[in-house]
This record gives sequence, C-alpha cells and structure tokens, in this order.
Amino acid sequence: MRKPIVAGNWKMNKTEDEAVQLTEDIKVMLKEGINADVILCPPFTALSAVSHSLRNTRIELGAQNMYWEEKGAYTGEISPQFLVNLNCNYVIIGHSERRKYFGETNETINKKVRTAFKFNLIPIVCVGETIEEREKGVTEKVVETHVKMALKDIDEKSCRRVVIAYEPVWAIGTGKTATPQLAEDVHRFIRTLLSELYSKDTAEVVRIQYGGSVKPENARDLMEMDDIDGSLVGGASLDTSSFVKIIQESIL
Ligand code: PGA
Repeated sequence: MRKPIVAGNWKMNKTEDEAVQLTEDIKVMLKEGINADVILCPPFTALSAVSHSLRNTRIELGAQNMYWEEKGAYTGEISPQFLVNLNCNYVIIGHSERRKYFGETNETINKKVRTAFKFNLIPIVCVGETIEEREKGVTEKVVETHVKMALKDIDEKSCRRVVIAYEPVWAIGTGKTATPQLAEDVHRFIRTLLSELYSKDTAEVVRIQYGGSVKPENARDLMEMDDIDGSLVGGASLDTSSFVKIIQESIL
C-alpha cells in the first residue's frame, strides 16, 4: 500500500511572518497526527523560519526549486546543500510554471533530479500537458517524454523514492480540475510506463500525485482512484482549513 502524500506548493506567496503563521495554524489543526505524508513548500525566503516551526513535528519541508550545482558563481541560485542544511526532505522539480516562465527544459529538469538524489532530497517531479497538447491528442506522448527524460540515468533504487506529480497545465490555478477518471487514466499510463522502464514492483511503490485545482470538495473523489496517491496543492494550500481538509479527505 502506498502512503498518501499531500504537498502544499505556496508558490510566490507568503512573507516569512505569514509563512510561519500558516505553518503554526496547520500544526494546530493536524496535532492529532495523520496517516499521510504532509509536506509544506514555502518560498526560499521562508524556508528557514518554517523549518524551525516544523521542528518536532511530523510535517516535512520541501523547496519549490533548486540548482544542480553545489556551489560557485551562479548568482541568484540555490544550492541543494542549502536545502539539506535547512532540513528539507523534498524539492519540487520541473513545475510547469518553471518550464513556462523560466525556460526549464527536460534536460535541466533531469540534471536537477539527478542532483536531488545525490543530496538525498526526494524530487517531486512535475509532468503534464497543455490544453493545446490535450486537444491535439498528444497527452500520453508529452507525459511519456516528461517522465522518461526526467528519470534518465536514474537507477531503480532511486526511482522507488521519486514522487511524480501529474499536473495538467490547463487545470493549474484555473478552477478546472481534471475529472477523477481523466486523471486516473494518465496516472495509470505513468505507472505502466514505470513498470516498462524499471519493473512492476518499482512501479507499484512510486507515488503519483495529482495537481491542478485540488480542493476539499474534489480531493476524495480523486483519491479514490487506484493510481492517485495524493495531491500537489497550490491555491488551496494557502488556506489552513482548506489544506487540512484536503489532507483529511485523502485518508481513505
Ligand atoms: P493549483 O496549483 O492547486 O492552484 O491549481 C497546483 C500546482 O501548481 O502545483
């Protein structure tokens, strides 16, 4: 059985103080403990403070991006080592907003995924098609390329730890969630692909999150699908009760 995994991607929201407040509120609401992995991904400037606030809790910390070199003359970039030092366990790699606005490619994403494993960070690898690609009927081809390229040269042992987030670009921040069946079809496709690339056993342990307008109202229907193991939540993760409700709805 795969343990549910829910991550909040705060994107470019929350000052340090606001981030700590949100973290504290989530902690209070989750104090009973919950049988799911819960990860908060604040902006870089709030990582240190949120890390502090998460001490002695079971909630984990993730970053929204990182660079693939450890150190050096890379003005403005963030080293994986910095994330490790802040007790980050996860890092989101290849979010569609990074592909769209910051020129990330399948090649740079692969470098980052490889680096994440080198530093013992778990990459949450984002894949997904645009509306044009879906309408052209090339969704599977696009997702296959994203997955294969991100995992190029990743060995089976590492692959078992990866988290894949299927995020159809047309569903992100638009209020248009994929129907559970439509999402499940792509999740199943990804799992079959993993079994071809590695093995059936490995494909069965990899957790695949859905992302794109996940809300308390649709979380359970999505989670009831066989191959949906959790969610990567943007907008709704900025509100304590919505985010906590999504987590609760994710425990079946
Ligand atoms: P959304 O974002 O929940 O606001 O649609 C999801 C994401 O981009 O990870």
